[in-house]
Amino acid sequence: MLNSPFIDAFLLRAFRFRTRGFLRMEDAPGTVPPAPREGTGYLYLHVPFCEVLCPFCSFHRVQHHHGQAQRYFASLREEIRRYHGAGYRFTGVYIGGGTPTTEPGELVTTIALVRELFGVRDISVETNPKDLRPEILEPLRAAGVTRLSVGVQSFDDQLLKEMDRFEKYGGSAEIQAAIRGAAGLFPTLNLDLIFNQPHQTLASFERDLALVRELGANQVSFYPLMTSPTAARRMAGAMGLPDQRRLREFFSAIVTRLQPEFTPTSAWCFTRRGHGSDEYIADADYYVGAGSGAFSFLDGTLYTTTFSLETYAQRIASGLTGITTRHRLTEGDLMRYSLLMRMFGLRLDRDWAMRRHGPRFFRKLWGELRTLEWLGAARRDDRGWQLTERGMYWLMLMMSAFFESVNDYRDAMRAHVRKDQHETDSLCVPATDWSGVAK
Ligand SMILES: C[S@@+](CC[C@H](N)C(=O)[O-])C[C@H]1O[C@@H](n2cnc3c(N)ncnc32)[C@H](O)[C@@H]1O
Ligand code: SF4
Repeated sequence: MLNSPFIDAFLLRAFRFRTRGFLRMEDAPGTVPPAPREGTGYLYLHVPFCEVLCPFCSFHRVQHHHGQAQRYFASLREEIRRYHGAGYRFTGVYIGGGTPTTEPGELVTTIALVRELFGVRDISVETNPKDLRPEILEPLRAAGVTRLSVGVQSFDDQLLKEMDRFEKYGGSAEIQAAIRGAAGLFPTLNLDLIFNQPHQTLASFERDLALVRELGANQVSFYPLMTSPTAARRMAGAMGLPDQRRLREFFSAIVTRLQPEFTPTSAWCFTRRGHGSDEYIADADYYVGAGSGAFSFLDGTLYTTTFSLETYAQRIASGLTGITTRHRLTEGDLMRYSLLMRMFGLRLDRDWAMRRHGPRFFRKLWGELRTLEWLGAARRDDRGWQLTERGMYWLMLMMSAFFESVNDYRDAMRAHVRKDQHETDSLCVPATDWSGVAK
Protein backbone atom coordinates (compact mmCIF):
# COMPACT_ATOMS: atom_id res chain seq x y z
CA MET A 1 0.00 0.00 0.00
CA LEU A 2 2.74 2.44 0.94
CA ASN A 3 4.33 2.09 -2.48
CA SER A 4 1.10 2.62 -4.36
CA PRO A 5 0.78 5.07 -7.28
CA PHE A 6 -1.96 6.81 -5.23
CA ILE A 7 0.55 7.81 -2.59
CA ASP A 8 2.98 9.01 -5.27
CA ALA A 9 0.23 11.11 -6.87
CA PHE A 10 -0.97 12.42 -3.50
CA LEU A 11 2.54 13.46 -2.43
CA LEU A 12 3.27 15.13 -5.74
CA ARG A 13 0.01 17.03 -5.67
CA ALA A 14 0.62 18.18 -2.10
CA PHE A 15 4.19 19.13 -2.95
CA ARG A 16 3.15 21.16 -5.99
CA PHE A 17 0.46 22.90 -4.00
CA ARG A 18 2.72 23.77 -1.06
CA THR A 19 5.52 25.09 -3.31
CA ARG A 20 3.36 26.89 -5.88
CA GLY A 21 4.66 30.30 -4.77
CA PHE A 22 8.38 29.60 -5.30
CA LEU A 23 8.69 31.22 -8.73
CA ARG A 24 6.37 34.22 -8.57
CA MET A 25 8.95 36.51 -10.11
CA GLU A 26 8.71 40.28 -10.54
CA ASP A 27 10.97 42.83 -12.22
CA ALA A 28 14.28 43.61 -10.50
CA PRO A 29 16.58 46.62 -10.99
CA GLY A 30 19.69 44.64 -11.99
CA THR A 31 22.12 46.25 -9.59
CA VAL A 32 24.29 43.92 -7.49
CA PRO A 33 22.24 42.69 -4.49
CA PRO A 34 23.91 43.35 -1.11
CA ALA A 35 26.44 40.63 -0.24
CA PRO A 36 25.27 38.35 2.61
CA ARG A 37 27.31 38.99 5.75
CA GLU A 38 27.44 35.39 6.92
CA GLY A 39 27.32 31.84 5.62
CA THR A 40 29.12 30.18 2.72
CA GLY A 41 28.45 31.17 -0.85
CA TYR A 42 28.79 29.39 -4.18
CA LEU A 43 29.16 30.94 -7.60
CA TYR A 44 27.27 29.46 -10.54
CA LEU A 45 28.31 30.44 -14.07
CA HIS A 46 26.00 29.65 -16.96
CA VAL A 47 27.51 28.98 -20.39
CA PRO A 48 24.60 28.42 -22.80
CA PHE A 49 26.47 27.25 -25.93
CA CYS A 50 26.16 23.73 -27.42
CA GLU A 51 27.23 22.22 -30.73
CA VAL A 52 24.01 20.27 -31.07
CA LEU A 53 20.78 21.13 -29.30
CA CYS A 54 19.37 17.88 -27.95
CA PRO A 55 15.58 17.59 -28.33
CA PHE A 56 14.91 16.62 -24.70
CA CYS A 57 16.91 19.42 -23.07
CA SER A 58 15.12 22.29 -21.33
CA PHE A 59 18.16 24.14 -20.12
CA HIS A 60 18.94 27.60 -21.43
CA ARG A 61 21.11 26.75 -24.44
CA VAL A 62 21.79 28.15 -27.90
CA GLN A 63 23.70 26.99 -30.96
CA HIS A 64 27.40 27.60 -30.46
CA HIS A 65 28.91 30.50 -32.39
CA HIS A 66 32.57 31.27 -31.73
CA GLY A 67 32.45 35.09 -31.93
CA GLN A 68 29.29 35.34 -29.86
CA ALA A 69 30.71 32.93 -27.25
CA GLN A 70 33.90 34.99 -26.94
CA ARG A 71 31.93 38.17 -26.34
CA TYR A 72 29.75 36.32 -23.85
CA PHE A 73 32.72 35.11 -21.80
CA ALA A 74 34.13 38.65 -21.71
CA SER A 75 30.81 39.91 -20.25
CA LEU A 76 30.75 37.00 -17.82
CA ARG A 77 34.18 37.91 -16.46
CA GLU A 78 33.07 41.52 -16.12
CA GLU A 79 30.03 40.41 -14.12
CA ILE A 80 32.21 38.20 -11.87
CA ARG A 81 34.45 41.20 -11.11
CA ARG A 82 31.35 43.21 -10.27
CA TYR A 83 30.29 40.69 -7.60
CA HIS A 84 33.80 40.66 -6.21
CA GLY A 85 33.86 44.45 -6.05
CA ALA A 86 30.57 44.37 -4.11
CA GLY A 87 32.14 42.21 -1.39
CA TYR A 88 31.01 38.72 -2.41
CA ARG A 89 33.16 35.76 -1.38
CA PHE A 90 32.67 32.18 -2.61
CA THR A 91 34.05 28.82 -1.56
CA GLY A 92 33.28 27.12 -4.85
CA VAL A 93 32.27 27.64 -8.44
CA TYR A 94 29.99 25.48 -10.59
CA ILE A 95 30.23 26.10 -14.34
CA GLY A 96 27.26 24.59 -16.14
CA GLY A 97 25.31 25.00 -19.31
CA GLY A 98 24.87 24.34 -22.09
CA THR A 99 28.37 23.05 -22.58
CA PRO A 100 31.10 25.21 -21.00
CA THR A 101 33.87 23.33 -22.86
CA THR A 102 32.69 24.62 -26.27
CA GLU A 103 35.23 27.42 -25.64
CA PRO A 104 38.08 25.78 -23.69
CA GLY A 105 40.43 28.79 -23.82
CA GLU A 106 37.80 31.23 -22.54
CA LEU A 107 36.76 28.73 -19.91
CA VAL A 108 40.29 28.36 -18.53
CA THR A 109 40.79 32.15 -18.47
CA THR A 110 37.52 32.51 -16.56
CA ILE A 111 38.46 29.80 -14.04
CA ALA A 112 41.81 31.56 -13.47
CA LEU A 113 39.96 34.81 -12.74
CA VAL A 114 37.60 33.14 -10.28
CA ARG A 115 40.54 31.51 -8.49
CA GLU A 116 42.46 34.76 -8.35
CA LEU A 117 39.51 36.77 -6.99
CA PHE A 118 37.94 34.27 -4.61
CA GLY A 119 40.53 31.54 -3.99
CA VAL A 120 37.77 28.93 -4.48
CA ARG A 121 38.32 25.36 -3.28
CA ASP A 122 35.82 23.52 -5.46
CA ILE A 123 35.70 23.99 -9.22
CA SER A 124 33.08 21.95 -11.05
CA VAL A 125 32.68 21.96 -14.84
CA GLU A 126 30.09 20.30 -17.09
CA THR A 127 31.09 18.80 -20.40
CA ASN A 128 30.06 16.25 -23.02
CA PRO A 129 31.84 12.99 -23.96
CA LYS A 130 33.26 14.40 -27.19
CA ASP A 131 35.24 17.00 -25.25
CA LEU A 132 37.06 14.40 -23.16
CA ARG A 133 40.19 14.96 -25.25
CA PRO A 134 43.73 15.63 -23.92
CA GLU A 135 43.83 19.11 -25.49
CA ILE A 136 40.77 20.08 -23.41
CA LEU A 137 41.28 17.92 -20.32
CA GLU A 138 44.92 18.86 -19.66
CA PRO A 139 44.30 22.64 -19.45
CA LEU A 140 41.26 22.01 -17.24
CA ARG A 141 43.31 19.84 -14.92
CA ALA A 142 46.07 22.44 -14.83
CA ALA A 143 43.46 25.14 -14.11
CA GLY A 144 42.55 23.27 -10.91
CA VAL A 145 39.18 21.76 -11.86
CA THR A 146 38.17 19.43 -9.01
CA ARG A 147 35.04 17.93 -10.52
CA LEU A 148 34.27 17.17 -14.14
CA SER A 149 30.70 16.17 -14.95
CA VAL A 150 30.09 14.38 -18.25
CA GLY A 151 26.70 14.15 -19.93
CA VAL A 152 26.54 10.49 -20.99
CA GLN A 153 22.73 10.12 -20.89
CA SER A 154 22.87 6.47 -22.00
CA PHE A 155 25.31 3.84 -23.25
CA ASP A 156 22.70 2.50 -25.69
CA ASP A 157 23.47 3.48 -29.31
CA GLN A 158 19.84 3.36 -30.34
CA LEU A 159 18.81 5.74 -27.56
CA LEU A 160 21.77 8.03 -28.30
CA LYS A 161 20.55 8.23 -31.90
CA GLU A 162 17.02 9.11 -30.76
CA MET A 163 18.52 11.82 -28.56
CA ASP A 164 20.39 13.15 -31.59
CA ARG A 165 23.70 12.70 -29.74
CA PHE A 166 25.22 9.72 -31.53
CA GLU A 167 26.74 11.65 -34.43
CA LYS A 168 28.07 14.65 -32.57
CA TYR A 169 28.83 13.39 -29.07
CA GLY A 170 29.79 9.79 -29.92
CA GLY A 171 28.36 6.26 -29.68
CA SER A 172 28.59 3.96 -26.67
CA ALA A 173 32.05 2.52 -27.47
CA GLU A 174 33.58 5.97 -27.96
CA ILE A 175 31.96 7.29 -24.79
CA GLN A 176 33.30 4.37 -22.77
CA ALA A 177 36.82 4.86 -24.14
CA ALA A 178 36.66 8.60 -23.42
CA ILE A 179 35.57 8.01 -19.81
CA ARG A 180 38.34 5.46 -19.25
CA GLY A 181 40.82 8.03 -20.58
CA ALA A 182 39.55 10.77 -18.25
CA ALA A 183 39.36 8.58 -15.13
CA GLY A 184 41.80 9.66 -12.44
CA LEU A 185 42.57 13.07 -13.96
CA PHE A 186 40.23 14.95 -11.61
CA PRO A 187 39.40 14.31 -7.96
CA THR A 188 35.78 13.71 -9.02
CA LEU A 189 34.57 12.41 -12.35
CA ASN A 190 30.77 12.43 -12.49
CA LEU A 191 28.59 10.83 -15.17
CA ASP A 192 25.06 12.06 -15.90
CA LEU A 193 22.61 9.39 -17.00
CA ILE A 194 18.92 9.70 -17.82
CA PHE A 195 16.38 7.03 -16.92
CA ASN A 196 12.79 6.45 -18.00
CA GLN A 197 13.47 7.35 -21.61
CA PRO A 198 10.50 6.40 -23.79
CA HIS A 199 12.19 3.52 -25.63
CA GLN A 200 14.57 2.52 -22.84
CA THR A 201 14.15 -1.06 -21.67
CA LEU A 202 15.06 -2.25 -18.21
CA ALA A 203 17.63 -4.57 -19.78
CA SER A 204 19.31 -1.67 -21.59
CA PHE A 205 19.33 0.37 -18.38
CA GLU A 206 20.84 -2.51 -16.41
CA ARG A 207 23.69 -2.62 -18.94
CA ASP A 208 24.20 1.11 -18.27
CA LEU A 209 24.35 0.41 -14.54
CA ALA A 210 26.92 -2.36 -15.03
CA LEU A 211 29.08 0.01 -17.11
CA VAL A 212 28.83 2.74 -14.49
CA ARG A 213 30.23 0.33 -11.91
CA GLU A 214 33.01 -0.80 -14.19
CA LEU A 215 34.22 2.46 -15.77
CA GLY A 216 36.54 4.61 -13.70
CA ALA A 217 34.11 7.38 -12.69
CA ASN A 218 33.59 7.91 -8.96
CA GLN A 219 30.22 9.66 -9.06
CA VAL A 220 27.02 9.25 -11.04
CA SER A 221 23.87 11.38 -11.23
CA PHE A 222 20.68 9.74 -12.47
CA TYR A 223 18.03 12.11 -13.74
CA PRO A 224 14.51 10.97 -14.58
CA LEU A 225 13.64 12.26 -18.04
CA MET A 226 11.96 15.59 -17.36
CA THR A 227 9.89 17.68 -19.73
CA SER A 228 8.63 21.17 -20.30
CA PRO A 229 5.90 22.13 -22.79
CA THR A 230 8.37 23.04 -25.57
CA ALA A 231 10.73 20.12 -24.87
CA ALA A 232 7.71 17.78 -24.89
CA ARG A 233 6.78 18.96 -28.39
CA ARG A 234 10.33 18.34 -29.67
CA MET A 235 10.60 15.02 -27.88
CA ALA A 236 7.26 13.73 -29.14
CA GLY A 237 8.65 13.71 -32.68
CA ALA A 238 12.26 12.62 -32.00
CA MET A 239 12.10 10.13 -29.15
CA GLY A 240 8.60 9.91 -27.70
CA LEU A 241 7.37 10.91 -24.25
CA PRO A 242 8.20 9.28 -20.91
CA ASP A 243 5.73 7.03 -19.11
CA GLN A 244 5.69 8.06 -15.44
CA ARG A 245 4.38 4.64 -14.40
CA ARG A 246 7.78 3.11 -15.18
CA LEU A 247 9.77 5.44 -12.94
CA ARG A 248 9.70 3.17 -9.92
CA GLU A 249 11.18 0.11 -11.66
CA PHE A 250 14.06 2.16 -13.08
CA PHE A 251 14.72 3.79 -9.72
CA SER A 252 14.69 0.43 -7.91
CA ALA A 253 17.26 -0.85 -10.40
CA ILE A 254 19.53 2.11 -9.60
CA VAL A 255 19.30 1.65 -5.85
CA THR A 256 19.80 -2.11 -5.89
CA ARG A 257 22.39 -2.47 -8.67
CA LEU A 258 24.75 0.36 -7.68
CA GLN A 259 25.24 -0.64 -4.07
CA PRO A 260 27.56 -1.56 -2.42
CA GLU A 261 30.16 -0.03 -4.78
CA PHE A 262 28.28 3.30 -4.79
CA THR A 263 26.40 4.93 -1.94
CA PRO A 264 23.79 7.68 -2.26
CA THR A 265 24.87 11.26 -1.58
CA SER A 266 21.51 12.71 -2.61
CA ALA A 267 18.25 11.22 -3.86
CA TRP A 268 19.72 10.98 -7.38
CA CYS A 269 23.49 11.22 -6.96
CA PHE A 270 25.67 8.24 -6.00
CA THR A 271 29.33 8.31 -5.04
CA ARG A 272 31.83 5.49 -5.10
CA ARG A 273 32.46 4.10 -1.65
CA GLY A 274 35.62 5.52 -0.12
CA HIS A 275 35.53 8.67 -2.25
CA GLY A 276 35.25 11.78 -0.05
CA SER A 277 31.97 13.49 -0.80
CA ASP A 278 31.99 16.86 -2.58
CA GLU A 279 30.76 19.98 -1.00
CA TYR A 280 27.87 20.58 -3.30
CA ILE A 281 26.13 23.74 -4.40
CA ALA A 282 23.03 22.51 -2.51
CA ASP A 283 25.01 22.72 0.76
CA ALA A 284 25.87 26.39 0.32
CA ASP A 285 23.94 28.99 2.33
CA TYR A 286 23.53 31.13 -0.76
CA TYR A 287 24.53 31.09 -4.40
CA VAL A 288 24.96 33.67 -7.11
CA GLY A 289 24.19 32.81 -10.73
CA ALA A 290 26.10 34.85 -13.30
CA GLY A 291 25.59 34.78 -17.07
CA SER A 292 22.39 34.56 -19.10
CA GLY A 293 19.55 32.36 -17.81
CA ALA A 294 21.04 31.79 -14.33
CA PHE A 295 19.34 31.61 -10.91
CA SER A 296 20.62 33.10 -7.64
CA PHE A 297 19.42 32.55 -4.10
CA LEU A 298 20.46 35.22 -1.61
CA ASP A 299 19.07 36.20 1.78
CA GLY A 300 15.76 34.49 1.09
CA THR A 301 15.34 36.04 -2.35
CA LEU A 302 15.43 34.21 -5.65
CA TYR A 303 16.80 36.09 -8.67
CA THR A 304 17.02 35.19 -12.35
CA THR A 305 19.10 36.77 -15.09
CA THR A 306 17.97 37.66 -18.60
CA PHE A 307 17.54 34.85 -21.13
CA SER A 308 18.53 37.14 -23.99
CA LEU A 309 22.27 37.11 -24.80
CA GLU A 310 21.96 40.54 -26.38
CA THR A 311 20.29 42.06 -23.32
CA TYR A 312 22.85 40.34 -21.12
CA ALA A 313 25.76 41.99 -22.97
CA GLN A 314 24.01 45.39 -22.85
CA ARG A 315 23.29 45.15 -19.14
CA ILE A 316 26.87 44.24 -18.29
CA ALA A 317 28.18 47.04 -20.53
CA SER A 318 25.99 49.52 -18.69
CA GLY A 319 27.37 48.57 -15.29
CA LEU A 320 24.57 46.24 -14.15
CA THR A 321 24.41 42.49 -13.52
CA GLY A 322 22.36 40.12 -15.69
CA ILE A 323 19.57 40.09 -13.06
CA THR A 324 16.15 41.02 -14.40
CA THR A 325 13.71 39.38 -11.94
CA ARG A 326 13.43 38.54 -8.25
CA HIS A 327 11.08 37.06 -5.73
CA ARG A 328 11.31 37.24 -1.95
CA LEU A 329 10.16 33.90 -0.56
CA THR A 330 7.69 33.93 2.33
CA GLU A 331 8.86 32.51 5.64
CA GLY A 332 6.87 29.32 4.98
CA ASP A 333 8.31 28.91 1.48
CA LEU A 334 11.84 29.42 2.80
CA MET A 335 11.29 26.67 5.33
CA ARG A 336 9.80 24.34 2.74
CA TYR A 337 12.72 25.10 0.41
CA SER A 338 15.15 24.16 3.22
CA LEU A 339 13.20 20.97 3.91
CA LEU A 340 13.24 20.00 0.22
CA MET A 341 16.96 20.67 -0.21
CA ARG A 342 18.00 19.00 3.05
CA MET A 343 15.87 15.89 2.61
CA PHE A 344 17.01 15.66 -1.02
CA GLY A 345 20.55 15.69 0.42
CA LEU A 346 19.44 12.72 2.60
CA ARG A 347 19.37 14.40 6.01
CA LEU A 348 17.79 17.23 7.98
CA ASP A 349 19.64 18.08 11.19
CA ARG A 350 17.58 19.58 13.99
CA ASP A 351 20.42 21.98 15.00
CA TRP A 352 20.85 23.18 11.45
CA ALA A 353 17.12 23.94 11.14
CA MET A 354 17.15 25.70 14.55
CA ARG A 355 20.07 27.89 13.53
CA ARG A 356 18.57 28.68 10.14
CA HIS A 357 14.89 29.15 10.97
CA GLY A 358 14.45 28.98 14.76
CA PRO A 359 11.88 26.85 16.64
CA ARG A 360 9.03 28.00 14.35
CA PHE A 361 10.44 25.63 11.70
CA PHE A 362 9.24 22.59 13.64
CA ARG A 363 5.83 24.08 14.37
CA LYS A 364 5.23 25.27 10.82
CA LEU A 365 6.42 22.07 9.14
CA TRP A 366 4.99 19.72 11.74
CA GLY A 367 2.57 18.23 9.20
CA GLU A 368 5.24 17.69 6.53
CA LEU A 369 7.70 16.08 8.98
CA ARG A 370 5.04 13.79 10.47
CA THR A 371 3.85 12.74 7.01
CA LEU A 372 7.41 11.85 5.96
CA GLU A 373 7.82 9.78 9.13
CA TRP A 374 4.41 8.13 8.86
CA LEU A 375 5.06 7.10 5.25
CA GLY A 376 8.44 5.66 6.19
CA ALA A 377 10.16 8.24 3.96
CA ALA A 378 12.25 9.62 6.84
CA ARG A 379 13.45 8.11 10.10
CA ARG A 380 13.81 10.23 13.19
CA ASP A 381 16.95 9.90 15.30
CA ASP A 382 18.46 11.93 18.14
CA ARG A 383 19.93 14.52 15.73
CA GLY A 384 17.13 14.95 13.23
CA TRP A 385 15.61 13.13 10.25
CA GLN A 386 17.32 10.68 7.89
CA LEU A 387 15.84 9.93 4.47
CA THR A 388 15.13 6.21 3.96
CA GLU A 389 15.51 4.26 0.72
CA ARG A 390 11.75 4.49 0.23
CA GLY A 391 11.94 8.24 0.82
CA MET A 392 14.65 8.61 -1.82
CA TYR A 393 12.14 7.67 -4.50
CA TRP A 394 9.66 10.31 -3.34
CA LEU A 395 12.34 13.00 -3.02
CA MET A 396 13.48 12.15 -6.55
CA LEU A 397 9.86 12.68 -7.70
CA MET A 398 9.58 15.98 -5.84
CA MET A 399 12.90 17.30 -7.07
CA SER A 400 12.01 16.46 -10.66
CA ALA A 401 8.64 18.24 -10.19
CA PHE A 402 10.59 21.22 -8.88
CA PHE A 403 12.96 21.10 -11.89
CA GLU A 404 10.03 20.83 -14.26
CA SER A 405 8.53 24.00 -12.81
CA VAL A 406 11.90 25.67 -13.41
CA ASN A 407 11.77 24.30 -16.98
CA ASP A 408 8.32 25.85 -17.43
CA TYR A 409 9.73 29.13 -16.25
CA ARG A 410 12.64 28.90 -18.70
CA ASP A 411 10.19 28.17 -21.53
CA ALA A 412 8.15 31.23 -20.61
CA MET A 413 11.24 33.43 -20.47
CA ARG A 414 12.54 32.21 -23.83
CA ALA A 415 9.14 32.75 -25.44
CA HIS A 416 9.18 36.23 -23.98
CA VAL A 417 12.63 36.92 -25.47
CA ARG A 418 11.50 35.61 -28.89
CA LYS A 419 8.29 37.66 -28.82
CA ASP A 420 10.05 40.93 -28.47
CA GLN A 421 13.60 41.03 -29.77
CA HIS A 422 13.88 44.61 -28.55
CA GLU A 423 12.77 43.52 -25.15
CA THR A 424 13.60 45.22 -21.91
CA ASP A 425 13.06 41.89 -20.17
CA SER A 426 10.17 43.21 -18.16
CA LEU A 427 8.65 40.13 -16.64
CA CYS A 428 5.03 39.43 -17.30
CA VAL A 429 4.79 35.65 -17.12
CA PRO A 430 2.29 34.24 -14.64
CA ALA A 431 3.45 32.45 -11.51
CA THR A 432 4.26 28.79 -12.03
CA ASP A 433 1.14 26.69 -12.18
CA TRP A 434 2.09 23.32 -10.71
CA SER A 435 -1.08 21.66 -11.92
CA GLY A 436 0.14 22.27 -15.47
CA VAL A 437 3.07 19.91 -14.94
CA ALA A 438 1.00 17.15 -13.35
CA LYS A 439 1.67 13.83 -15.02
C1 LIG B 1 23.09 21.09 -18.85
S1 LIG B 1 23.54 19.48 -19.23
C2 LIG B 1 25.31 19.64 -19.43
C3 LIG B 1 26.00 18.43 -20.02
C4 LIG B 1 26.46 18.54 -21.46
N1 LIG B 1 25.93 19.67 -22.12
C5 LIG B 1 26.01 17.30 -22.20
O1 LIG B 1 24.86 17.25 -22.59
O2 LIG B 1 26.79 16.37 -22.34
C6 LIG B 1 23.46 18.67 -17.67
C7 LIG B 1 22.66 17.40 -17.63
O3 LIG B 1 21.29 17.66 -17.54
C8 LIG B 1 20.61 16.48 -17.86
N2 LIG B 1 19.39 16.80 -18.60
C9 LIG B 1 19.23 17.67 -19.60
N3 LIG B 1 17.95 17.69 -20.02
C10 LIG B 1 17.29 16.79 -19.26
C11 LIG B 1 15.95 16.33 -19.20
N4 LIG B 1 15.00 16.81 -20.03
N5 LIG B 1 15.62 15.40 -18.28
C12 LIG B 1 16.55 14.91 -17.45
N6 LIG B 1 17.83 15.29 -17.45
C13 LIG B 1 18.20 16.21 -18.34
C14 LIG B 1 21.53 15.63 -18.71
O4 LIG B 1 21.82 14.43 -18.03
C15 LIG B 1 22.76 16.51 -18.84
O5 LIG B 1 23.94 15.77 -18.83
S1 SF4 C 1 21.89 18.05 -23.03
FE1 SF4 C 1 23.83 19.17 -22.99
S2 SF4 C 1 24.49 19.22 -25.15
FE2 SF4 C 1 22.36 18.66 -25.17
S3 SF4 C 1 21.33 20.64 -25.46
FE3 SF4 C 1 21.36 20.23 -23.23
S4 SF4 C 1 23.13 21.25 -22.51
FE4 SF4 C 1 23.37 21.11 -24.74
